[in-house]
Amino acid sequence: MLGTFTFSNPTKLYFGEEALEGLKTELPKYGRTVQLIYGGGSVKKNGIYDAVVSILRACGKTIVEDGGVMPNPTAEKLRDGVRIARENNVDLLLAVGGGSCCDYAKAVSVSVHEPEDPWIKYFARYEDPTCEIVPVGCVLTMAGTGSEMNGGSVITNTAEKMKIGKVFDERVNPRFSILNPKFTYSLPMRQTVAGVYDIFSHICEQYFSGTDENVSDALSEALMRTVVSASRIVIREPENYEARSNIMWAATWALNNLIGCGKTEDWMVHMLGQAIGAYTDATHGLTLAAVSLPYYRLVMPYGLPKFVRFAKEVWRVDPAGKTDEQIAEEGLCAMHAWMKEIGVAVSMRDLGATADMIEGIADATILMDAGYHALTRDEVVKILNESL
Ligand code: NZQ
Ligand code: ZN
Repeated sequence: MLGTFTFSNPTKLYFGEEALEGLKTELPKYGRTVQLIYGGGSVKKNGIYDAVVSILRACGKTIVEDGGVMPNPTAEKLRDGVRIARENNVDLLLAVGGGSCCDYAKAVSVSVHEPEDPWIKYFARYEDPTCEIVPVGCVLTMAGTGSEMNGGSVITNTAEKMKIGKVFDERVNPRFSILNPKFTYSLPMRQTVAGVYDIFSHICEQYFSGTDENVSDALSEALMRTVVSASRIVIREPENYEARSNIMWAATWALNNLIGCGKTEDWMVHMLGQAIGAYTDATHGLTLAAVSLPYYRLVMPYGLPKFVRFAKEVWRVDPAGKTDEQIAEEGLCAMHAWMKEIGVAVSMRDLGATADMIEGIADATILMDAGYHALTRDEVVKILNESL
C-alpha cells in the first residue's frame, strides 16, 4: 500500500535541441543582474558559455561572473559565492553546468540573505531556510544528479572531511531548467558513465524498500531498464541523440520526488559514497559504484523478494528451476556485468582511498534506517573493506 504523500515540483523544464530558447522566455521574469555560475571551463570549450552569454546580453542583463565551481563544491567556495551575490545584489543565480554548479547555486540562494554561516545552518544543523531565497535557474550540461529538478544541494567541508547533502523544500528548486541532450555530447566518457551510474543508484535507493506492490516501483523498473539500454548505446556512440536524451530525461525523473512517492527510501549507498567523497574528492557516481555490490549483497537476505523482482524485471533473469536466493544473486551478477561493460566497476582504491582511511570514512558515514536493514558500524567497516 502506498503511504501518504504530498507531491509538488515547481521546476519548469525546457527539453530538446532548441531548449536554450527557453532562456529567452524565462529571463524577462527576473531583475537585471544575473550571477553566471559555471565550473572549471568545459562550458567555454564547448560553446555553451558563449551561447548563454549572448542570450543574457540580448535580454539586457548585467552579468556577474562566478566561475570555478569545482566538482563536489566546497563550503569555502559557497561562502565566496554568497559574497559575490551580496556585493552585486543579484536577482538570479544561473547555473550553467552539472550537478555541482546547480547544487552550489541552490546553496548560495538560501544564504545570500541569511546572516548565519551556511555550512553550519544548513549542512551541520540541517535547518530549513528562514530568509528570502534568491531564484535559481539551470542550464544543464551533465546528466546524473537530478539537481535540475529537485531541492537537493550537496556541499563538502574539506577541513572537517564531511560531505553532506541537504534536501531543501520546493522553494529552493530551480525555477526553470534547460535540458538539451546535445550539451552532454562533450562529456568525457568517464563522466558520462559516472552520471549513468548515479541515475541508476538514485533509482535503487528508492526501489529497495518496502514489500508492497506499488506504481512507484513499477516506474523505477522502467527507468532502470531505459538507463541500462541507453548506456550500452552511448558508450559506443557518444553522439547518439536518442540515447543521450533518454539518459537525460531518466536522470531528471530518477530524483525529482516522483518515484519515492508513498515509499520509505534507503539512501545508504549514497551515505557511504559521500563519506568516501569527503576523503578522496572522487567523482560522485563512481563512489556509489565502488560500494554498491558489497552493500546489496549484505542487505539482500533482508529484502529477498524485492531482489528477486529486481532480477526478473530489470535484468530479465529466467527464474525457472532456481531458488529465490539464486535468482536474486543472478540479478546482482547481471548488474555487476553491466557495470563492467560501461566501465564503472571500480574499487575504492581506484578512487584514491587507502586502508588507513577506512575508520575515518566509517565515522563520516551517516547511518540510515529506512531500507531493508539498518547497518551497524561494524557492517559499514565490512562493506568498506570489501569495496577497497
Ligand atoms: O567543471 P567543468 O569544467 O564544467 O567540468 C565538469 C566536471 O569536471 C565536467 N562537465 C560537465 N558538463 C560537461 C563537462 N565536461 C564536458 N562537457 C560537458 N558538457 O564534468 C565534471 C563533473 O561535473 P559535476 O557537475 O561535478 O558532475 P555531477 O553532475 O555528477 O555533479 C556532482 C555533484 O552533485 C552532487 C554530488 O555529490 C556532487 O557533489 N549530487 C547532487 C544531488 C542532488 N542535487 O540531488 C544528488 C546526487 O546524489 C549527488 O550527490
Ligand atoms: Zn547521487
